[in-house]
Amino acid sequence: MVRPGVTTQEIDSAVEHFIRKQGAVPSFLHYNGYPASVCISVNDEVIHGIPGKRVLREGDIVSVDVGAYMGGFHGDCAATFPCGQIAPEAQRLIDVTRQSFFEGIRFAKEGCRLQDISAAIQSYVEEHGCSIVREYVGHGIGAKMHEAPEIPNYGRAGRGPRLLRGMTLAIEPMVNAGAAAIRVLPDGWTVKTLDGKWAGHYENTILITDGEPEILTAPAI
Ligand code: MF3
Ligand code: CO
Repeated sequence: MVRPGVTTQEIDSAVEHFIRKQGAVPSFLHYNGYPASVCISVNDEVIHGIPGKRVLREGDIVSVDVGAYMGGFHGDCAATFPCGQIAPEAQRLIDVTRQSFFEGIRFAKEGCRLQDISAAIQSYVEEHGCSIVREYVGHGIGAKMHEAPEIPNYGRAGRGPRLLRGMTLAIEPMVNAGAAAIRVLPDGWTVKTLDGKWAGHYENTILITDGEPEILTAPAI
């Protein structure tokens, strides 16, 4: 549905209907008072954009973050999608953000330490001239959407708790094309870059095993 002319609230209601049709419940709706099922963050919005009457335009980049609760457990995932034809720099931001997740999860296995993931994400993003948002982090996930541990997208390899098989984690780099600084809009939710440059977000819920991690939320891109 990310195409010119579509409103962000149309995407929200389609996602909510799909989730409920599966017998699941949207994890985000009413979470700490959040008013929608999906977070939709456009261009310089980093995360937690509230769906509404905004009409998507050709060239926008659109981060869609979705959580669903079913059988006693949550899943949480996000990706940034191009709206029609986008600028090459915008596509590069999307690609760097997505690839940073995969660089990070090379270390998502039993025996590694948590910040091995963090450090791999940070170094990939910074080597590609982008910056990591500090104020928001990934998280453990399970019977509750946000569980320990917090998973920063920056850190030092060799630090943090050891990873064990059976842990389920939401790894979610938030990547700015410009500087790392952000601000929260007066709506209390929408997080934007301070410098107005664009941002990407990519997230999956993964399972730690003794080998390769299992990606539990089927990646859309
Ligand atoms: N994926 C986001 C997170 O991990 C979604 C939370 S937004 C909220 O925190 F609306 F649910 F608050
Ligand atoms: Co999350």
